[in-house]
Amino acid sequence: MRHDTLIADSPLPVAALPLEVAVVVPTLNEAANVEKLIAGLSIVLAGRGWEVVFVDDNSPDGTSELVRRIGRDSRHIRIVQRVGRRGLSSAVVEGILATAAPIVAVMDGDLQHGEEALPRLIDAIAERGAELAVGTRYGAGGGIGDWDQGRARMSRLATRAGQIALGTDVSDPMSGFFAIRRDAFERALPRLSAVGFKILLDLLASSPAPLKVAEIPYQFRTREAGESKIGARVIAEYAELIADKTIGRFVPVRLLKFLMVGGLGVFVHLAVLRAILGAGSAFVTAQTVAVMTAIAFNFFLNNSFTYADRKLKGWRLAGGLASFYAISALGAVANIGIGTWMAGHDERWWVAGVAGVVVGAIWNFAMSAALTWRK
Ligand code: GDD
Ligand code: MN
Repeated sequence: MRHDTLIADSPLPVAALPLEVAVVVPTLNEAANVEKLIAGLSIVLAGRGWEVVFVDDNSPDGTSELVRRIGRDSRHIRIVQRVGRRGLSSAVVEGILATAAPIVAVMDGDLQHGEEALPRLIDAIAERGAELAVGTRYGAGGGIGDWDQGRARMSRLATRAGQIALGTDVSDPMSGFFAIRRDAFERALPRLSAVGFKILLDLLASSPAPLKVAEIPYQFRTREAGESKIGARVIAEYAELIADKTIGRFVPVRLLKFLMVGGLGVFVHLAVLRAILGAGSAFVTAQTVAVMTAIAFNFFLNNSFTYADRKLKGWRLAGGLASFYAISALGAVANIGIGTWMAGHDERWWVAGVAGVVVGAIWNFAMSAALTWRK
């Protein structure tokens, strides 16, 4: 089947117009929406030099293959297919890097971003001097469609948190619908976190100088086909992005997570200790079991929380646990050594205790980063 009926202006030689704008569309299982989206784009962008770059994470529903088929009939259509990768933000970044267009628009592939707002986003940059044009659901004339109360409230909350953390007054910093001038993107690029869903927030926070922003209200549409990928993980990644953009400047977020896990490990230790002592065991037995349990607890929690992006599985999980035990044992030796040395130099017992804990924790963090969860 040919798809040139989809493309309103496809008989025009593409080279006739210099490339003005690329629309980057991240996709994960959006095969049911791709053709409609392209048809809509070709109407609102007719008369401009444009292309659309789909960045598809190897969707099982065959989104990539479908885009390629359409692309054989139209040079407006391009695809970056990523294998073994995930993530909306990184998909957007790689899509932008794959095009030469001086203006790049980003929109979802599920038709929730009405493409009729696209020319206004582009022209805010091309004609009115904005560096970034943001499609907003919260301005006059904007709207969030048929989201239920819960999702609407959550979105408002997350929006507020983002605005406060980043000190931005953009009304919809969570928007996935925006256009940016290529040079502005390139200035932010070296500092982007590119984790999670919130690429716009990331761009705003990573720009070395505040961007000239235009806000363009639009109506968020209801998703008709396919399903949303927002879930617990997306929310966790959002929290991580905010942490990275605020305290992350001073302390690595991974270290903070590691320390949080270690703090929980203390409670596990005490709970196990108490339970075993209660059962009548000798202290040395109870303490040994408690330490072993707490280390295992820390290992598994670090593996799925602190190092979710490098999670060890199968045999490597067993090896990881063994290395973590070895590292923690040396960490304990360092802890006791430093603590004892400090106790000889400072009257306050707790200063010596804390010094031991800090050195032990840093040792554990550094060594497990280098060995247990090495890249
Ligand atoms: N390549 C790739 N990789 N694409 C992805 C991934 C991924 O891991 N996850 C989601 N997408 C694509 C989807 O296929 C869709 O085209 C787009 O990204 C948005 O995903 P949805 O799952 O439809 O997100 P949503 O509608 O719940 O969230 C939208 O609204 C948020 C505002 O609350 C998005 O626009 C968000 O960016 C926006 O922040
Ligand atoms: Mn959506």
